[in-house]
Amino acid sequence: MTPFSRITGTGSFLPPRRVTNDDLARDLAQRGIETSDQWIIERTGIRARHFADPEVTSSDLGLEAAKRALEAAGRSAGDVDLIIVATSTPDMVFPSSAAILQNKLGIAGCPAFDVQAVCSGFVYALTVADAMIRTGSAKCALVVGAEVFSRILDFNDRTTCVLFGDGAGAVVLEASAEPGILASDLHADGKHVGILCVPGHVSGGQVLGTPLLHMDGQAVFKLAVRVLEEAARTCLQKAGKVDTEIDWLIPHQANIRIMEGTARKLKLPLDKLVVTVNEHGNTSAASIPLALDEAVRGGKVKKGDMLMLEGVGGGFTWGAVLLNM
Ligand code: ACO
Repeated sequence: MTPFSRITGTGSFLPPRRVTNDDLARDLAQRGIETSDQWIIERTGIRARHFADPEVTSSDLGLEAAKRALEAAGRSAGDVDLIIVATSTPDMVFPSSAAILQNKLGIAGCPAFDVQAVCSGFVYALTVADAMIRTGSAKCALVVGAEVFSRILDFNDRTTCVLFGDGAGAVVLEASAEPGILASDLHADGKHVGILCVPGHVSGGQVLGTPLLHMDGQAVFKLAVRVLEEAARTCLQKAGKVDTEIDWLIPHQANIRIMEGTARKLKLPLDKLVVTVNEHGNTSAASIPLALDEAVRGGKVKKGDMLMLEGVGGGFTWGAVLLNM
């Protein structure tokens, strides 16, 4: 009997094209739109982001991250018996990017599906994979967050296009006799659909509505700080732990001010906060596994550390996962 699930490997991948704030400001100036490195850093903490080339899809980025996570776990693709991809920028309307990724990994047969919870997608996907492992439906899951958010940005809207980037992160989650995932807490409140959305859909061969990201930044900011503290506290309570036991806080990397505000509310020193938003921008569902992998490979996160992962995003959705590495 293996009643728990545990992360056994992490991986990530960023498309090679790094775009600094100055690069972006120069491009936007050609459209008559003014922004600056100073404004972007002060309001968000972002210095650069990566953009994928036009032909590169979420499953392409996810594949590279998945291969690295499998290698770190000492597993091969043939060992995987569940694939969940969290994405809001899938390769196609259907089939799922998870099914496409499965084929790119050269395997077949295991369940593969996408989870759509925008920037909370990874904590949702991890929670689903954990539940499937604990109920015996899977033993070795690949959980991926992958996005090409640059495809849905409105480069005529300076309030949003400076915030996001592309990338992918992945973990291998395996059945374990020792607890890895200790607790999780997921939520959604659909009455906030309008504050963060891509309000378009496909109909009769055309896109109806706007297929570009719209956000009320201040409304998102206020909600995010409140719900991230609540989700973390509920998670700690469910696991019978207290905030001082957290070794690393890895929140969704949207804005340094939201992240530091959350750490302060949890009474965590800022050196326990994993920050990659400065170099990645907001990569939506990819941001948490990207940050986790960088923290593992950079030697910050070590085996046995207790991690609080937290997501918040469109829906409105939010959630947290507390785990031991
Ligand atoms: N460059 C220069 N000036 C700008 C830019 C820009 N890129 N964008 C906006 N401004 C201007 C505005 O026009 C405004 O000018 P005004 O005072 O003359 O009207 C001024 O800067 C201040 O604008 P605000 O919107 O009030 O700026 P704010 O301090 O709220 O920061 C921001 C905006 C960064 C978007 C902030 O609200 C935020 O981070 N919100 C949360 C966003 C977030 O986390 N989103 C991701 C959620 S996850 C997901 O699901 C995708």
